[in-house]
Amino acid sequence: MKKILVTGGSGFIGSHTCLLLLEEGHEIFVIDSHINSSPKSLERLSTIIEAENIFLNGKLHIYKGDLRDNKILKKIFLDANKNGGSIDAVLHFAGLKSVSESFNSPMLYWDANVNSTINLLKVMEANNCKTIIFSSSANIYNSKTPQLTTENSEINPVNPYGRTKAVIERILTDIFESASDTWRIANLRYFNPIGAHPSGFIGEDPQGVPSNLFPFITQVAAGRRKELTIFGNNWPTKDGTGVRDYIHVMDLAEGHLRALKYLLDSKPRLLNLNLGTGKGTSVLELIETFEKVNKVSIPYSFVNRRKGDLPITIASNELCKTCLNWTPQRTLEDMCRDGWKWQLQNPKGYFNSNENF
Ligand code: NAD
Ligand code: UFG
Repeated sequence: MKKILVTGGSGFIGSHTCLLLLEEGHEIFVIDSHINSSPKSLERLSTIIEAENIFLNGKLHIYKGDLRDNKILKKIFLDANKNGGSIDAVLHFAGLKSVSESFNSPMLYWDANVNSTINLLKVMEANNCKTIIFSSSANIYNSKTPQLTTENSEINPVNPYGRTKAVIERILTDIFESASDTWRIANLRYFNPIGAHPSGFIGEDPQGVPSNLFPFITQVAAGRRKELTIFGNNWPTKDGTGVRDYIHVMDLAEGHLRALKYLLDSKPRLLNLNLGTGKGTSVLELIETFEKVNKVSIPYSFVNRRKGDLPITIASNELCKTCLNWTPQRTLEDMCRDGWKWQLQNPKGYFNSNENF
């Protein structure tokens, strides 16, 4: 059992990963400002865990706060020390993630993503906690071809959001190089996580209009939005729409557990790893699969390309498979089915949801 600090643990990927950490018996300390999430996601974890006959026994500690606030970070580390031991590792999910918002409000993104991380790293260092898994992104690459993106592909992000992620990776690399005999760091570069826990109890609940494709599709299917607008039908791809590497959020969460174990069991190191499936799916293919699996219809129309988009991004996941012995298990059909189950059970996300289903 380890003590793990999870930043942004109420969010989409964080909440699914927290569930697996608790299932493995870890004690977790979650900090989240709820700028893009609901505290209910963590309440739901207890429901899932209890149904599995696992007893939490005070192993879930929740703090509402912002990573830029030193006081609350210091308090978490102090609290973790109270019953002996200390925070063993940090899973750092907290951050803002909308590409279009990052164009409109770059300062917000540099502050929320980079300054938060610097603050976190300072408090970690002061507490001699030197193991961190960082939520990086496929957005740091500048892939324009159907070739798989490897970890050695060019890093040259085309939007402010991606640039904040690339800079955080740079900071982490500099820190590692300054004391490579002490730090354990994994930059996990996610491709496109979608889907939900198969229970339908937790899932993706973006605040406001979703900027990502999949939650938009589920909200159109649920009648919350009239139609999907597809950003461009003239990309150099198989059907003219953008191609992405969609990965089930549970596969992604499992990747974190593997990375954590690997880091904690090995000597200090810096890892840069893609987390994706190696398969490309176009917007039209995703819609078609979603309609077929769930027997629903997704009306759509085409509009101009979105600023900062790339035509095609597909991961090479060979390094992750070898290094972590991790292979994504779930299909695109699983992602569509589980994501729809979450949306159906929670038509308004966590807001006003019926807690007794
Ligand atoms: P999310 O918005 O659901 O989760 C992020 C969480 O961080 C939210 O709960 C939010 O309230 C919290 N948060 C944001 N800024 C904070 C701050 N300063 N202090 C405390 N809490 C803060 O997003 P997600 O999809 O779960 O993504 C998690 C991480 O993975 C993000 O860093 C994101 O950039 C990265 N990522 C996401 C994707 C994706 O497509 N979902 C892809 C690549 C990388
Ligand atoms: N798209 C639409 N209509 C929409 C939303 C998206 O046509 O309403 C298209 C986009 O143009 C793109 C594809 O659907 O071709 C996927 O777009 P997303 O916004 O779902 O995903 P992105 O690949 O642009 O970016 C996402 C996250 C980033 C993350 C990145 C990793 O927003 O945080 O995946 O690949 F870094």
